[in-house]
Amino acid sequence: MDFALTDEHRSLQTLARDFAEKELRPIARQIDLSGTFPQEAVKKLGELGFMGISIPESYGGSELDPVAYVVIMEEISRVCASTAVTMSVNNSLACEVLKNFGTEEQKQKFLISMAKGETLGAYCLTEPMSGSDAATMKTSAKKEGDHYVINGAKNWITNGPDADTLILFAMTDPTQGNRGITAFVLDAKSEGVEIGAKENKLGIRASSTCTISFTDVKVPESQRLREEGFGFKVAMATLDNGRIGIAAQALGIAQAAYESALSYAKERKQFDQSLAEFQGIRWMIADMASRIEASRLLIYQAAYKKSLGGRFTKYSAIAKLFASETASFVTNTALQIHGGYGYTKEYDVERFVRDARICEIYEGTSEIQRLVIASQSLKEIQG
Ligand code: CAA
Repeated sequence: MDFALTDEHRSLQTLARDFAEKELRPIARQIDLSGTFPQEAVKKLGELGFMGISIPESYGGSELDPVAYVVIMEEISRVCASTAVTMSVNNSLACEVLKNFGTEEQKQKFLISMAKGETLGAYCLTEPMSGSDAATMKTSAKKEGDHYVINGAKNWITNGPDADTLILFAMTDPTQGNRGITAFVLDAKSEGVEIGAKENKLGIRASSTCTISFTDVKVPESQRLREEGFGFKVAMATLDNGRIGIAAQALGIAQAAYESALSYAKERKQFDQSLAEFQGIRWMIADMASRIEASRLLIYQAAYKKSLGGRFTKYSAIAKLFASETASFVTNTALQIHGGYGYTKEYDVERFVRDARICEIYEGTSEIQRLVIASQSLKEIQG
């Protein structure tokens, strides 16, 4: 068994790290404070080919494998988790939907520009009254001739305020439960689409999030993804992709906090010795290092399983669950090592704590990941 990255993965890692250090490091703290969307950085990510990492070159992407995706995600997240989630949603929740479920016409119209980073995608699943129980959505799509009329509201839409293209899930037949849900792709500027105010969040403050409402929005039948009633499967299969990306985001945040804690522990002296010489601090370092390495292996495993084709639901859920809980543990431990200084904006570690927290919530809470892991595990035993 070979745990080493390939030469290509290593050079992509260096490329992503150099980009993050040069372009994101100088702005990360400020855009977090002001809640400013990193427009320029996102444009440059597109130029690097990082907005459509897995998409075939013929559709504007970089045609790289899932391991390349997580390696790049970790490096971007290590410096700016807000920029990273913008990138992750565009890659996993928007581009991949069209790659996997779109028609040729839909790919030509929406995918190419999104994979090049010229347009930005968002994924509209959650609603005010339908979060973890995604199948209970109320947004409706009624067929009228050759188009659908959409009414409803979606919330917590990452990239929403800046999006050009929306992947939308709506109920076409409420009597069929999850089998009554249908997926669509549409222009965010369509008549009747109203982009709500940007949320003022605890963390990932430079990523833009909002509610989007739909009033009598006409969507041509040609913009339906697959058949009516297939939308829930599109949503769930897509979240399998997304959850690997969020796991890698959590890993990058944890890695950043860990590095920061180690340098602080070496340099800070108390009781005539550096913090790193105290056994209590060493135990913290050991726990952080172990959990980070375990997360990285689980994430690489999930990416590898994805590259084999077939369902990788359980592996992406395990990776997300473990990596996001690790990120919360590591960032809090890192802050503890920094003491009072860690509680101020003089150091980045307080930002890492705030940024890590959402990884246990979005794209399925830790409780939902446990539910998914348990139900997949039980199916394996029964099967
Ligand atoms: N791939 C393909 N199909 C899948 C699937 C997957 N991963 N998971 C489920 N399905 C299929 C099932 O096979 C089943 O098909 P049949 O009806 O043909 O048998 C169907 O979907 C229903 O599956 P379940 O019975 O398991 O569905 P459920 O209603 O019991 O619940 C759930 C499933 C796991 C709880 C699901 O609702 C879920 O994941 N909820 C969390 C939603 C979520 O993650 N939301 C985050 C939104 S995105 C976001 O955070 C915003 C952002 O912008 C970042």
